[in-house]
Amino acid sequence: MKFFVDGANVKEIKELAEMGLVDGVTTNPSIIAKTGRKIKDVIAEICEAVDGPVSAEVTATDVEGMVREGKYLAKIASNVCVKVPLTEDGLKACYRLRQENILVNVTLCFSSMQALMAAKAGATFISPFIGRLDDIGQEGMTLISEICQVYDNYPEITTQVLAASLRHPLHVKQVAEIGADVATLPAKVFKQLVKHPLTDNGLDAFLKDWQSTGQSIIED
Ligand code: E4P
Repeated sequence: MKFFVDGANVKEIKELAEMGLVDGVTTNPSIIAKTGRKIKDVIAEICEAVDGPVSAEVTATDVEGMVREGKYLAKIASNVCVKVPLTEDGLKACYRLRQENILVNVTLCFSSMQALMAAKAGATFISPFIGRLDDIGQEGMTLISEICQVYDNYPEITTQVLAASLRHPLHVKQVAEIGADVATLPAKVFKQLVKHPLTDNGLDAFLKDWQSTGQSIIED
């Protein structure tokens, strides 16, 4: 299973990469806005820090504008993945950008049939948003199961299911159990996944007992 960082804090991304946890990064216009920096600079810096795909989203809403912005973003680095919304123009842009071998992440997906359309348009990744469905009282996780089931029926589909809008460790556990290809998580959720109070307590006890021996492992 691949893990992407959903965020644009380069320091946090590098810290997680040092643990070998980072296969890519996703951003969106809201995430970039929070940095207060130019999208080109932020994406270039992230692309340098990470080997895998780094999603950078277009903000035009018409096909020509999206293709133009997509090509511009793709020139920032070879691992840029252009993110387009799941609209008719977004799918046209996806199809055009894929013909030029540019990686495309189709975002804001809320139904399995939208996901099937994105796969037909050649999307590299489809991003179903779990948390935002939960927010309106729908079972977001069902969407991941439905998309995986539909895609699994057709071996010719190569689009990867990128579970997005994951807000807590239980979301991650559930998408891993279902078998999503990728989960994108905020840095905070990575840290929650690593931490366990019994690990911390156990380590404290081990170190206390070790100290009482007066030994050190390396003696010379
Ligand atoms: C993913 O690509 C999105 O940027 C992100 O997961 C959205 O998450 P949110 O619904 O918590 O904003």
